[in-house]
Amino acid sequence: MEVRRVAVLGAGLMGHGIAQVCAQIGKYEVNMRDVEQRFLDSGIAMINDSLARIVRKGILSEEESKKVLARIHPTLELNQAVQDADFVIEAVTENPTLKKSLLMDVGKFAPSATVIASNTSSISITEIGAATGRPSQVCGMHFFNPPQLMKLVEIVRGLKTSDETVELVREISIKLGKDPVLVKKDTPGFIVNRILSQALNEAVYLVAEGIATPEDVDKACELGLNWPMGPLKLLDYIGIDTDLFITEIMVKETGDPKFRPSNLLKQMVRANLLGRKTGRGFYDWSKQ
Ligand code: 3HC
Repeated sequence: MEVRRVAVLGAGLMGHGIAQVCAQIGKYEVNMRDVEQRFLDSGIAMINDSLARIVRKGILSEEESKKVLARIHPTLELNQAVQDADFVIEAVTENPTLKKSLLMDVGKFAPSATVIASNTSSISITEIGAATGRPSQVCGMHFFNPPQLMKLVEIVRGLKTSDETVELVREISIKLGKDPVLVKKDTPGFIVNRILSQALNEAVYLVAEGIATPEDVDKACELGLNWPMGPLKLLDYIGIDTDLFITEIMVKETGDPKFRPSNLLKQMVRANLLGRKTGRGFYDWSKQ
């Protein structure tokens, strides 16, 4: 199947980066859809900022970066975003109800041959596939933040995902410059989040129990484990609400208390201390 146009649903922290990566390779036109103009504007602003960094490094010229932007078509209309798309990548908030209702509509509006990938971090691909009404054409395609830099894509096979769909997602991932792994069975958290959610949780418990400051927990992992950023900085980076969604799904789906989120994480979400995106989490990001 020849993919010419990709629809990316969601222009947030992940969606904008995925749209940019798709537009950057020069093979695809990209429809980028979000539900409010301010979200689209902020997505385009983040893409501009990222492209400027890439131009400064000499990887792209100024002219090429303008062409990348011209290949991205922002829209508020779901129908408009998917009606001519050969491939859809869903990257909206990690909320099962929201995702399923959106994907049900994608199943209605997208051409029958269109393959649908979800960037979900933890929600069942089999469940998402069922919502679309075309489960054999649905696959997990889990990018990592920031998608412009991180090489990994987890390809996740749902119970009814066809071999052709998995192969297409693998081909596209490689074209996007990624180095994919295959998660052979639909399982909560896939590979990375099954490991990471416990590590991030433990870091929050260390702070909540007054054992160490966020700075020292991060320093310990950066200097002792060579992590590029410590777990609390990483939580602020990916979004405290996103992490809470992931851990809550892990607990619900596995019933295993080892994934249980710290109360501090829940309180931070209630207080809108979501990290980078709201200017404050474990750290103050308001000046960045
Ligand atoms: N676009 C383009 N370039 C970018 C960029 C972006 N969005 N973000 C950073 N860069 C560039 C910077 O310009 C800088 O370039 P330079 O070396 O030429 O100056 C370089 O990347 C390094 O950036 P910084 O100096 O700002 O900061 P760092 O050295 O800390 O690097 C980082 C930033 C690459 C994000 C690094 O800290 C890192 O790898 N952090 C860990 C990220 C990670 O673990 N991600 C996975 C999260 S889990 C996930 O996503 C799963 C989900 O389901 C939860």
